[in-house]
Amino acid sequence: PAPLRLGIVGLGTVGIGVVKIIQNHADLLAVRAGRPLQITAICARDRTRNRDADISGYAWVDSPAELALRDDVDVLVELVGGTEGAAREAIELALDHGKDVVTANKALLAVHGQALAERAERHGRTIRYEAAVAGGIPIIKAISESLAGNRISRVMGVMNGTCNYILTRMQSAGLPYETVFEEARQLGYLEADPTLDVGGIDASHKLAILASLAFGTRVAFDAVEIEGIERISIDDINRAADMGYRIKLLGVAQITARGLEQRMSPCLVPSDSPLGQLEGGTNMVVVEGDSVGQIVLRGAGAGEGPTASAVMSDVIELARGVRMPVFGQPAAGLAAPQPARTAIP
Ligand code: HSE
Repeated sequence: PAPLRLGIVGLGTVGIGVVKIIQNHADLLAVRAGRPLQITAICARDRTRNRDADISGYAWVDSPAELALRDDVDVLVELVGGTEGAAREAIELALDHGKDVVTANKALLAVHGQALAERAERHGRTIRYEAAVAGGIPIIKAISESLAGNRISRVMGVMNGTCNYILTRMQSAGLPYETVFEEARQLGYLEADPTLDVGGIDASHKLAILASLAFGTRVAFDAVEIEGIERISIDDINRAADMGYRIKLLGVAQITARGLEQRMSPCLVPSDSPLGQLEGGTNMVVVEGDSVGQIVLRGAGAGEGPTASAVMSDVIELARGVRMPVFGQPAAGLAAPQPARTAIP
């Protein structure tokens, strides 16, 4: 069978992780996907940068838009990020020219997801984004595929590894915020703009995407009530610990009598609970469905291997010829959610 030809935009941590998996597991992937996976073209900001993989066999393209339009690219793999600019433009071009898209861009989907989903559908294409939420945890497929037979009542969890790392490390090592923040940067957890992390915005992007999938509503990032972790001090953490609690940046999306509630805020959770025990850059997502009951998924929410693992699941799905609707059902059928505001205590 003909290979599925990939064009990768963005060769940072995740992009290189994807290149390595495709190079190291070519035979395994071809069997699983039913056809070979082939990288044909790549594009990144800096051509000369030393990279941890051999990329000499791929066509180097100077702009994401050019890559999106190439005849030898079937799927655009967008691993740049950002809600505007080159990444968005390349995705729109790819869809308009009959290509599918795989992306890790949670911000773009949270803000422009509805328009992009409609655009994809107009062209009979799709956007897959397993890597956009909770890194290696297969939560997109869990909600949209494995739990598709359920009416879901609640989705919640810790969805930003940086914040979880900072909060747990401040507590366990008694270190100040700034030191731990720098460690998180070294580990590759941080967004290019770290205020997205510590301000709770990145986690809220992810929560808004999960809420849309779980409740069949249009993605509504504007309706998330957000409070970040910038004002959490080591005193807060120690006082909570004395009473048997940990502070976690917890996201909750649920349908209430007043509408869809989406909340991202630092919460007290019992120290000995699964959420309380969650350490480092780990994420945890809890889903409650009427038939399945409660499901808890836990794993690495960021980093090269885990995020690339999620990207590969989407690539393989497309290679198999499966083309899921972007938000699990036709975009036109997604209702605008009625947001329920709550006062964050
Ligand atoms: N900055 C994000 C995090 C990366 O810390 O979780 C993964 O989305």
